[in-house]
Amino acid sequence: MANKSKILVTGGCGYIGSHTIVELLQSDYEVVSLDNGLNSSPDVLDGIEAITGVRVVNVDVDLSQTEAALEALRAHGPFTGIIHFAALKSVGDSVHQPLRYFQNNIGATLTTMALMEAMDIPYLIFSSSCTVYGRPEKLPVTEESPIRPAESPYGATKQTGEILYDQFFNTQPGRNGISLRYFNPAGAHPSALIGEASTNQATNLVPVITETAIGLRSELAVFGNDYPTRDGSCIRDYIHVTDLAKAHVLAMDHLVQHKNQKPYEVFNLGIGEGVTVLEAIAAFEKSTGENVNFTISARRPGDIDAIYANNKKITEQLGWKPTEDIQSIMRSAWAWEQVRRK
Ligand code: NAD
Ligand code: UD1
Repeated sequence: MANKSKILVTGGCGYIGSHTIVELLQSDYEVVSLDNGLNSSPDVLDGIEAITGVRVVNVDVDLSQTEAALEALRAHGPFTGIIHFAALKSVGDSVHQPLRYFQNNIGATLTTMALMEAMDIPYLIFSSSCTVYGRPEKLPVTEESPIRPAESPYGATKQTGEILYDQFFNTQPGRNGISLRYFNPAGAHPSALIGEASTNQATNLVPVITETAIGLRSELAVFGNDYPTRDGSCIRDYIHVTDLAKAHVLAMDHLVQHKNQKPYEVFNLGIGEGVTVLEAIAAFEKSTGENVNFTISARRPGDIDAIYANNKKITEQLGWKPTEDIQSIMRSAWAWEQVRRK
């Protein structure tokens, strides 16, 4: 049997990284993870093994430390590609610790380029975010929608990553990359063996809903019901984490099979439908039969009223199609919450 292509997954013990490793292993790839446990535990490797039968090696090193990362990875190559998830991701924390976010996230991104050069790695996928669009004027947003000034230091690290990769891939013959601009990832693997398990406190809507339903929080605060939307609460594009993970495999296949039209491309990664906060709560209650105790509270500073994706480019060019909806997101998130708290 021909050797499988080996992919380096940075942030492989994290939420999206772990789900993507499962999808890579179930396709035609081998994986090495790199994660220093900044927001995760290596226990997730047990869940990945239970699902796939493969024990993934994790290299425990800080990716923002270029020399140390190069040294630690040398024995694990050669790699066909890098999928780069490793970053700090809390918008709120980034406002209080901008330098830490810049050093960690931009530092790690620079190291991926150093690895590509030193280890001759041709392909990379970068985790970007719809936050690069800021407060969009027109919905749904396409890849051509204007990039707005970053609204937080975290957002600035995603914009910087995109700018640097654009320059890098357009000046380095033979190296190719893709940025995927995620909308709102949520849900868990259908096995309930892996899911979101941040060591930092959850602030995103879906984990807050499940933590309220299980009794870890007394109530959920709906941040505002006076937005100009159909029920007054904010609209987002929630995408199931397994659908999101599968897009990474397709994006890597696209590069490996030389189907890319340019050395560097960006794709929106959302299901293309907007769901309000109140609709999300109702979907949880309907799909699980559980109640969520919520109150309406003040708007959260920095929130935008509505954003959702035009996903035509990724469906046409990568052949990606979402298969899960908000109900399935809620069911899987709830199953994982119950397993996790046992
Ligand atoms: P996560 O925190 O669960 O995973 C990130 C992983 O990277 C963690 O396991 C952490 O320990 C590791 N890490 C961080 N800095 C590191 C470093 N310097 N060296 C080694 N390991 C390091 O986050 P996630 O939700 O899986 O997000 C993955 C990526 O997707 C991030 O880049 C994030 O910014 C981006 N993203 C996430 C969302 C979302 O809602 N989850 C939305 C848009 C973009
Ligand atoms: C947030 C980040 C965004 C990042 C994304 C993924 C902000 C301002 N934006 O997006 O940059 O890419 O996470 O990590 O932090 N909500 C409540 N009550 C809660 C929690 C959330 O009503 O307790 C509402 C929010 O007002 C929002 C929606 O639920 O309308 C989704 O919130 P959240 O899950 O935090 O994601 P975003 O704010 O869209």
